[in-house]
Amino acid sequence: MKHNFDLIVSRKETHSTKWLKFSEQDVIPMWIADMDFVCPSEITSSISERVDQGIFGYTNTPSSLTDIFIKRVKENTDWTINKDWIVWIPGGVVGLNVACKTVLAPGEMAMVPSPIYAPFSEAPENMERGFVKTHLQDNQGRLEFDVEAIKTLLTEDIKMFFLCNPQNPGGTVFNQDEIEEISVICEQMGIIVCSDEIHSDLILDDDVKHIPYASLNSYNKENSITIMGPCKTFNIAGFPIATAIIPNQTLRQDFIRNTKGIVAHIDSIAFVAAEAAYSDAKEWHSDLITYLKSNKELLLERINNIAGLSLRGPEAGFLAWIDCSNSGLENPSEFFIKEAKVGVYDGAWFGDKNYVRLNFGCPRSILEEALDRIEKAFSQRN
Ligand SMILES: Cc1ncc(COP(=O)(O)O)c(C=O)c1O
Repeated sequence: MKHNFDLIVSRKETHSTKWLKFSEQDVIPMWIADMDFVCPSEITSSISERVDQGIFGYTNTPSSLTDIFIKRVKENTDWTINKDWIVWIPGGVVGLNVACKTVLAPGEMAMVPSPIYAPFSEAPENMERGFVKTHLQDNQGRLEFDVEAIKTLLTEDIKMFFLCNPQNPGGTVFNQDEIEEISVICEQMGIIVCSDEIHSDLILDDDVKHIPYASLNSYNKENSITIMGPCKTFNIAGFPIATAIIPNQTLRQDFIRNTKGIVAHIDSIAFVAAEAAYSDAKEWHSDLITYLKSNKELLLERINNIAGLSLRGPEAGFLAWIDCSNSGLENPSEFFIKEAKVGVYDGAWFGDKNYVRLNFGCPRSILEEALDRIEKAFSQRN
């Protein structure tokens, strides 16, 4: 492996959200979803070059960025995207919120499969729209749709379905049958899907393939908003940039109208970072996947050896959704943070307090230290 993911870089000095949260305590932060890896050198050198030029005025979206993004999606998923379907936005969560405003009229609702990254449930509320939760089923550690429950919850007022694929926090990569089931229901009910596929370049399981929802059939294509972007894959979340891919022209125009005057323009450096990521960082990306796979293996082996904890995935990404429901702990995240001194994300934030989410996108030595602490804390429980 050419790239050194073992390197430990101090982040507190840069006001890192992740590292400041527990900075007063001796707690290893493993909560929010950015990784502790230096991003590809191709990105940092492109940024340096851009900084050297010294003028940071209003900037158009580089056409070359859109071209390379389309090329990468085609290579990775075989989905052919037309250039005019793409709306660049400053971050994935912006896309979720604008999608709610665009698709849902006041009084209409989104269906939100829970547990899920909290901004999916927050977006309808932010936009003064409603939402209905459907619960994903934990099938031996894999979060899956409960299609019968979805059908019974459907009403005329539900006009949008929030898909998160790969799923956060569960790491499920939904297969063709699963996506088809959702597609059939949505077509029957005239529902538009907002599909957040921001983790789709981080597939870890060799026998799993990401299928973009919109690529499956013409109903999906015409009735969807797909969110993708480089921030998770290339660890550049501090430069918010993402795409909303909207093949349907009317929907796209409405979406763009709803961004006007509210959604900030994209940072000129974010464009540079995104283009360098998609153009030049293939080798780094491939090494990253190899490294994350090893971290995942280590985590699986050691977490599943602790009585009361269980972990299966993730099939994609760097977030582990650890089932603590057999641990007897009233408040698992509090135990991880206070007793083990490992700063996990409380499962309650996603919709299930019996789980914790642990970010393993970090150097192996940090993960090993965290696992030592978790093992010790569980072995000392009385
Ligand atoms: C599924 C999903 N969508 C969106 C985001 C956030 O994207 P952004 O920082 O670009 O708004 C995250 C971050 O964890 C995420 O997991």
